[in-house]
Amino acid sequence: MYCTRNVTNSVVWVGVNDRQLTRFENLFPVPRGVCYNSYLILDEKTCLIDTVDSAAVDQFIENVAFALDGRTLDYLVINHMEPDHCSAIEHIVLRYPDVQLVGNAKTFQILKQFYNLDIDGRHIQVKANDTLSLGKHTLSFHLASMVHWPEVMITYDQTEKIVFSADIFGSFGALNGALFDDDVNYERAWAEDSRRYYANIVGKYGRQAQNTLKQLAKLDIDIICPLHGLVWRNKIDWILNKYQTWSSYTPEEQSVAIFFGSMYGNLENVCDILASKLSEAGVKDIAMYDVSATHVSQLIGETWRCSHIVLASPTYNTGIYPDMATLLHDMHALNVQNRTVGLIGSGTWASSSSKLILKELENLKNIQVLEPVVDIMSSLKVEQVADVEQLAQALVRSLGVE
Ligand code: FEO
Repeated sequence: MYCTRNVTNSVVWVGVNDRQLTRFENLFPVPRGVCYNSYLILDEKTCLIDTVDSAAVDQFIENVAFALDGRTLDYLVINHMEPDHCSAIEHIVLRYPDVQLVGNAKTFQILKQFYNLDIDGRHIQVKANDTLSLGKHTLSFHLASMVHWPEVMITYDQTEKIVFSADIFGSFGALNGALFDDDVNYERAWAEDSRRYYANIVGKYGRQAQNTLKQLAKLDIDIICPLHGLVWRNKIDWILNKYQTWSSYTPEEQSVAIFFGSMYGNLENVCDILASKLSEAGVKDIAMYDVSATHVSQLIGETWRCSHIVLASPTYNTGIYPDMATLLHDMHALNVQNRTVGLIGSGTWASSSSKLILKELENLKNIQVLEPVVDIMSSLKVEQVADVEQLAQALVRSLGVE
């Protein structure tokens, strides 16, 4: 049965929720599910903006047919060619054979790479700032390359001041009946997944996201319709400010997260002592994560939130503890920068993890490593508690806690 919602009187959400997907991109856990948003504009011409994942095709086709109410589909705008949004293109073309596919040169290059769809005579290739009239609605197209694939574009409905923003401003999480940002307590229920989505999916492309924000600043915006997550109409300034912070790699909060690997609890013990000293000194809301028990995408999200991080790792096979190595790999891959780091290493016959982590951190921009780096052999001894105390004091000073 169809399940649609109106964004405005002439724009209908025809997307689909997916709560069966366990890992987005087969990588990121999505315990709250995800939604694939698609929007239908009803005017003298009808125009669909993007499609959905292959897992959601049946529901999607039913939604589109209901929203069209017997009309045909004239245009399908393809803002993004990642398969979670374009897997239903062939189904749409089969059902509405006169539909014109609208995209840019890269859109059609990637479409041909993924699918054996004959687009001759049924596509319109657009460039930046080209327009398309649907009757009352005029759409303009704006390239947003690498946010988060090279072909990505943003479509602006000049008439209703709606930005169809592709991945940007999206989030993990299925829509549980809600459609708009003001249907939910966003900061309580959505902000963490929104940040985790940004950091892991778009985070590498901060410069490109900044360029897109500059383009958007020239537009008069009443509504933002992303391809995942809620539609923005009430908290537009809030999410634009968040994106300004995230895409410039500016810490969202002056706060600390402690990430530890610990095989037998000895490094966890050091981190507990450190955290206790920080709390006694007035540091609030200390976050602590066992890297073996927390998915790296969540750790990356926290890296985007916090100004200060502590990395505590045993030496393992003469290298860095594997789950800590994964975190460092992702921090590098996603361009993490502008953070202050505390380091704790350990070993039993050789302790080299802190030195190896220091070397990894050299690959990241603008990372300040606090002194002292704490190194322990097997477990913390009473004569080394002073080192932990000094690291706590360095963190407190750097955090600016009075
Ligand atoms: Fe949701 Fe880059 O695709």
